[in-house]
Amino acid sequence: MSREITHTDPHNLDTPWRPGINAVFPLPIFINQADPERFKVIDDEFQSVISKIEFAQRDGWNADTHMLSPDPFSKSLIHEYDCKDFMSFLDESVKAYVTPILRHDQYGYSVTESWMTKTIKGKYAQEHSHGTADISGVYYIHTTGKDGNLLFDNIHSNACSNVIVAALKAKEIMPLENGLIMLWPGHLKHGTFVNKTDNERISLSFNICLGRRGFDELYGKTRF
Ligand SMILES: [Fe+2]
Repeated sequence: MSREITHTDPHNLDTPWRPGINAVFPLPIFINQADPERFKVIDDEFQSVISKIEFAQRDGWNADTHMLSPDPFSKSLIHEYDCKDFMSFLDESVKAYVTPILRHDQYGYSVTESWMTKTIKGKYAQEHSHGTADISGVYYIHTTGKDGNLLFDNIHSNACSNVIVAALKAKEIMPLENGLIMLWPGHLKHGTFVNKTDNERISLSFNICLGRRGFDELYGKTRF
């Protein structure tokens, strides 16, 4: 990992006031990593999928962008190939991310799309966001950790005409390791560095929709 993860209480969402400059309204990003044994089980599942699909670049996208699994944004690959072990890891991760924030565990969620990305030498992901997804995420299947980290855009970048905001860090470089999963609010803009190595980086991306009033019985049976 490019930066060490420190293990302070992950459930404490209080603002840690301290004398001097404080950061308020932080955006919650979830990070976890499958242990080697679990990574192997999930990898067996994903290698079987990879052997059955053909990656291709998307029509109309820049020639230097990465390749994608077939029909990436109109179906869920992990459901199509019944990737039970990954779905179990994802379910644990979603609950560990969402439950402390909503402060209950009675919500429903749906993985609305999932797809794989292959990034060969010279390719990258242009900055983008994931439309109406409540949560978007990535899981790294095959990376050396040097083949193109994910970058998040500062959520305050639309206020960059302000001298203080303009001086803040514009991008956050995220860790890149096999078995690492990250979840974030789907509107957050992100992209990757160019893969300058010979390794073919493969990752899984997904979108998640959370239950809400009008759709989830938790909030009452009324549908408008
Ligand atoms: Fe993305």
